[in-house]
Amino acid sequence: MDNNHPKLKIHYHSLLGSKSNNIALIIFLFLTVTVILSLFIWSPPYFSIFQTQQIIQCSNPSNSTTGFEMTPKINIEDELELALAKASMGNKTVIIVVINRAYAEQDLKGDTTMLDIFLDSFWLGGEETRKLRDHLLIVAVDQTAYDRCQFLRLNCFRLETDGVDFRGEKLFMSQEFIKMMWRRTLFLLDVLKRGYSFVFTDMDVMWLRNPFERLSKNETEDLQISTDMFFGDPWNKNHLINTGFYYIRSNNRTIALFDKWYSMKDNSTGLKEQDVLLGLIRGGIIDQLGLRVRFLDTKYFSGFCQDSKDFKAVTTVHANCCRSITAKVTDLRTVLKDWKRYKKIMSYKRFANNVNVTQTFKWTGHWGCWSSWKVGNNKTSN
Ligand SMILES: *[C@@H]1O[C@H](CO)[C@@H](O)[C@H](O)[C@H]1NC(C)=O
Ligand SMILES: *[C@@H]1O[C@H](CO)[C@@H](O)[C@H](O)[C@H]1NC(C)=O
Ligand SMILES: *[C@@H]1O[C@H](CO)[C@@H](O)[C@H](O)[C@H]1NC(C)=O
Ligand SMILES: *[C@@H]1O[C@H](CO)[C@@H](O)[C@H](O)[C@H]1NC(C)=O
Ligand SMILES: *[C@@H]1O[C@H](CO)[C@@H](O)[C@H](O)[C@H]1NC(C)=O
Ligand SMILES: *[C@@H]1O[C@H](CO)[C@@H](O)[C@H](O)[C@H]1NC(C)=O
Ligand SMILES: *[C@@H]1O[C@H](CO)[C@@H](O)[C@H](O)[C@H]1NC(C)=O
Repeated sequence: MDNNHPKLKIHYHSLLGSKSNNIALIIFLFLTVTVILSLFIWSPPYFSIFQTQQIIQCSNPSNSTTGFEMTPKINIEDELELALAKASMGNKTVIIVVINRAYAEQDLKGDTTMLDIFLDSFWLGGEETRKLRDHLLIVAVDQTAYDRCQFLRLNCFRLETDGVDFRGEKLFMSQEFIKMMWRRTLFLLDVLKRGYSFVFTDMDVMWLRNPFERLSKNETEDLQISTDMFFGDPWNKNHLINTGFYYIRSNNRTIALFDKWYSMKDNSTGLKEQDVLLGLIRGGIIDQLGLRVRFLDTKYFSGFCQDSKDFKAVTTVHANCCRSITAKVTDLRTVLKDWKRYKKIMSYKRFANNVNVTQTFKWTGHWGCWSSWKVGNNKTSN
């Protein structure tokens, strides 16, 4: 599977190395004091939340020599509860997107960011998608991304990893990149445990229509996940999943799935979490846990690996099968141009019902992404 889309580009200014023992000591003391204080101060409901966190930590003892644990700080917990409640739809459903500086801040040469393009798609999608903006929860892994999110008056949550700031760029699949991925998985497990179902979306997914109209409402379906290639049968477990877009319901089975997924953290050297989940599926986890997993059709949940041929049906477009952020930005802007062109034509009545016009509508080639695979273009990101 050559689907090396960058979930995040992460750079992290190392404060580890020789100082790691000191930092470990400080963090340990800090946690101890916080724990003791919280025993005295906190009322029973918070106490039980705290216990849940401890269980996560105990069942996944990480042999971290770097001096920080993957467990969220306790005082962040109620902030998360607030953020979730604020972003939630009536039925305890939110849309989660994780952002870092590389996606939020313009570099010197750029004139837009992935975050801008992502939000543009909600605007261009029309009434249906505009209202979904209120239900977006932007999870910022560094301060710059958080500030930008606040500036745009979105629902923002700052995800910290005990004092470590995942700033700026980091090479794809580096140690820190993978650490961030797993931190994210733990966070999502936490959200499920709090009883929230969610759509997880990468920022390089354009929301052209309201996906809730296309996702199955059948409550027996635990997970509905996008694919790079769709083979025709939504229950065929051999699909190449893409964790860039999925809808998951909070229940025992899905919590068990994410628990298992996260527990592979220390046992999956060199693999990104998407490949680990794919491995679990190949290993039969779906049947073991009694999960119902629907694999989504690219006709609706499209991507650069396999374009939807149907403009009347397409709901989201993911810049997968693409190697660099610059290429994604270029090609996604073209996607939005195509979409505007389509909407314009549809606004003329005599074309709207002409099957010939709608059927011959095609996406412009994803030239940036295609050429991002050429030799010599392999230096960084993804
Ligand atoms: C942690 O590492 C030590 C030595 O490297 C090993 O003996 C121990 O089993 C590890 N613990 C866990 C939980 O992996
Ligand atoms: C949750 O509520 C929203 C808004 O009312 C709706 O669009 C969506 O389909 C609901 N989700 C489920 C799973 O019922
Ligand atoms: C949901 O799916 C199950 C399994 O296919 C089916 O038995 C049930 O009738 C469906 N429920 C609804 C409301 O469609
Ligand atoms: C699932 O959760 C319910 C509570 O919501 C609990 O009563 C039940 O025992 C759980 N089932 C399993 C298999 O864990
Ligand atoms: C971790 O990997 C080892 C060796 O590859 C294997 O024996 C063990 O079962 C794995 N643990 C889990 C939880 O999959
Ligand atoms: C669509 O195209 C076919 C030939 O390609 C033509 O016969 C037909 O009349 C066209 N339909 C409309 C509605 O223009
Ligand atoms: C990147 O491409 C250069 C040639 O342009 C090649 O020498 C190098 O090995 C490649 N690096 C990787 C990681 O593929």
